[in-house]
Amino acid sequence: MTDKQQPAPANRRLSVAPMMDWTDRHCRYFHRLLAPSAWLYTEMVTTGAILHGDQPRHLDFDDAELPVALQLGGSNPHELAQCARIGEQWGYSEINLNVGCPSDRVQRGVFGACLMKQPPLVRDCLAAMQDAVSVPVTIKTRIGVDDYDSWDFLRDFVGEVARSGVSVFILHARKAWLSGLSPKQNREIPALEYDKAQRVKQTFPELQIIVNGGITCVEDAHQHLAYSDGVMLGRAAYQTPWVLSQCQQALFADAAPLDRTAVMQKMIAYCEQQQRHGVKPRHIGRHLLGLYHAQPGARIWRRWMSDCLQRNAPASDWLEPFRSKQIQAA
Ligand SMILES: Cc1cc2nc3c(=O)[nH]c(=O)nc-3n(C[C@H](O)[C@H](O)[C@H](O)COP(=O)(O)O)c2cc1C
Repeated sequence: MTDKQQPAPANRRLSVAPMMDWTDRHCRYFHRLLAPSAWLYTEMVTTGAILHGDQPRHLDFDDAELPVALQLGGSNPHELAQCARIGEQWGYSEINLNVGCPSDRVQRGVFGACLMKQPPLVRDCLAAMQDAVSVPVTIKTRIGVDDYDSWDFLRDFVGEVARSGVSVFILHARKAWLSGLSPKQNREIPALEYDKAQRVKQTFPELQIIVNGGITCVEDAHQHLAYSDGVMLGRAAYQTPWVLSQCQQALFADAAPLDRTAVMQKMIAYCEQQQRHGVKPRHIGRHLLGLYHAQPGARIWRRWMSDCLQRNAPASDWLEPFRSKQIQAA
């Protein structure tokens, strides 16, 4: 174990959650345009994938995405330390440990949410990771798992894990049920208990507590920032990405106003540049489908965009309904 207490970066008021199949590098490039001050996270990458797989495929990113955290899945302190070191060398701003994923695949590998049942192991994993790197090491965890769901359990878990020296806790404010619920149901069915996240902050004021789960708009963000150090948006950021731009405006003094079409034009330029490296327009365009959500013409544009993606049309076509005045630019 280390007695090294990591200094946390100054401002973690806004983050976008790690989301498998969603927050790939192209999605993060898009989110960065919308929220220049947000912390971004990779999808979870297992230690096995890094140590035995195609590292550039799992780890490459564009410098424009920074600051970006690499989220690791694993439970072997030595392997996690090795992967943390690789992540730091690759240029990641933070290394995060996943203690929240409830999927069967993850449970078979004995990591993710089931690790909550072994607080000393989580502590040792984080301590080993911290010893290996100088960038911050953080944890993203549930507030309980199965019948380990009392306040006393959560308090003792946080207390034990904090002994590793990790000072940034991202709390997905609902417990996980490991049997009987799918990962999707595990994001809906167990109730959100923000009061527990608040109590963690009151009990451990020296820790940075980032609240995650069910935050969908600026008003929600303000409500949770009243007692915590930051908010992390997941599904809302992906499905209604303009909320990131609204949060950026509301939470950071120096935010420059944006418009959707300017963001689209930057994404078209990015796509054209990525195509030169063999990336197909649909790999990038799929992340943009929610951009005009609730705007006039949103449905027409989404249909047009889906069609473009299906036939792999060039990115320069993406704004055609605006050019042809089928939709008025928002
Ligand atoms: C499609 C999808 C994939 C996810 N993958 C991960 C993951 O790789 N690592 C992780 O810690 N959480 C993952 N999550 C959980 C989110 O990070 C977040 O904790 C959860 O969605 C609750 O936040 P929200 O209500 O703002 O969406 C995933 C969620 C979704 C919807």
